[in-house]
Amino acid sequence: MIDRRSFLVMGLIAGVPGVPPLSAPYGEPFTLGVASGDPAPDGFVLWTRLAPAPLAEDGYGGMPAAPVPVYWEVATDPACARVVRRGSENAVREWAHAVHAEVGGLEPGRDYWYRFKAGPYISPTGRAVTAPPAGAPAASLTLAVTSCANYQHGHFTAYTRVAEERPHMVLHLGDYIYEHGKGQAPCPGGNVRDHEGGEATSLADYRRRHALYKTDPDLRAAHAAAPWVPIMDDHEVRNNWTSRLPAARRAAAFRAYYEHMPLRRASIPKGAAIHLFRRLHWGSLATLHLLDTRQYRDRPLCGSGFAECPKADDPGRTITGKAQERWLLEGFRESRARWDIIGQQVFFGQRTKYPGPERVVRQDAWDGYTASRTRVTRGWLEAGTRNAIVLTGDVHSHWAGDLALDYDDEDSPLIGTELAVTSVSSGGNGHDHDRARDALLDTNPHLRFHLRRRGYLLLKVEPAEVRAEFKIVKYVNTPGAPALLAAGFTVADRIPGLVRQA
Ligand SMILES: [Fe+2]
Repeated sequence: MIDRRSFLVMGLIAGVPGVPPLSAPYGEPFTLGVASGDPAPDGFVLWTRLAPAPLAEDGYGGMPAAPVPVYWEVATDPACARVVRRGSENAVREWAHAVHAEVGGLEPGRDYWYRFKAGPYISPTGRAVTAPPAGAPAASLTLAVTSCANYQHGHFTAYTRVAEERPHMVLHLGDYIYEHGKGQAPCPGGNVRDHEGGEATSLADYRRRHALYKTDPDLRAAHAAAPWVPIMDDHEVRNNWTSRLPAARRAAAFRAYYEHMPLRRASIPKGAAIHLFRRLHWGSLATLHLLDTRQYRDRPLCGSGFAECPKADDPGRTITGKAQERWLLEGFRESRARWDIIGQQVFFGQRTKYPGPERVVRQDAWDGYTASRTRVTRGWLEAGTRNAIVLTGDVHSHWAGDLALDYDDEDSPLIGTELAVTSVSSGGNGHDHDRARDALLDTNPHLRFHLRRRGYLLLKVEPAEVRAEFKIVKYVNTPGAPALLAAGFTVADRIPGLVRQA
């Protein structure tokens, strides 16, 4: 056991917390908050970044060039009185003074609290959670699912409501930042606040954009409340980006993303490549397969004229890339979990654009890669996957749908569930009825629910059933909206098919 005092005197400068000595070479550095991520049975990764001037023009957050030792401690109580683990990392300019500490040696299946110290400064305290012992039964997993937080379009109220749920984990399915310049791609109802500067294209731009987002108190609250499991969609780089985007810009976006996320060392980017697909286990209750459907698409999105697009059912066409697909199918075969949960970016099940004889294929989603989709679904069927749940972001609406092997065959058995989470703020307040999208429910009977409001998805996983609660906040143009339950569904163990509860 390490007592509280030992943390306070750690570091090169011993001082009184919050009172910088005259020699302090920088101001309050914990402006971007703290985060934890990717919980395992024995630990998690801890994150912070030193940035006394978060929006500094050069992207270095107002830090001097020298490396700074940053101390961390993990405790079993919120006051950090009972410290059970501590260590230090060097925050260096090359990585914008970001800190990633992989903590091990903890007990499985419990809450912890952590904080950092740099010079005389002590960070806010965050809560983290360890996963249950590998392979052991677990009573429950509460997963908050979020995506698409456009700073200009609205307040991040949903993030504070997520923090209040005290989930075991927050799964972020992408569009954590938006690249647009000030006033670009405005919200239909008008922007509530502005990005800094033009479209993000350079490393300094992406660093400043991430820093701007983290100055938002709602976002910092969600990070401090529970470990995050983030994956990336398109706007962390550029709208609907493809491998044709210059490598230097992809590399800049990936580097800034890593610097600002509680990711493990396996995700340190190498130039224009970042490894984000990975698996997490929650005892024998759930396995999370997190996918990257942006980086390895074999052919870029085609233009608005769909005629020249490659055929969606071309067997060579892939949205995951070959290596990730192999890894996923192997994961299905090896999984002994009650629930296999696939977290990914774009709409998975079939979704025609408008009712009518002419089916418009969405090239950006799995509908544009049907051969790829069939290989994945056959993969989980052949592996004998007990229950498959696909989680989706990107679409700025809540959706619930049953998954089938063949959507054109009414007798095709149900093989899983798709739950798509709406945006935190992208698109503004939203509305209760969207005629074009509501009509999709009539022409696609496997789709069960749609609502174009802002919010998040709360997933309560238990051995007997998964309960999906679609939560909304009715306005994001002003802060403080309460969270409301818009709809609730359950899926029972071994019985695919959504059952409406609320
Ligand atoms: Fe989005």
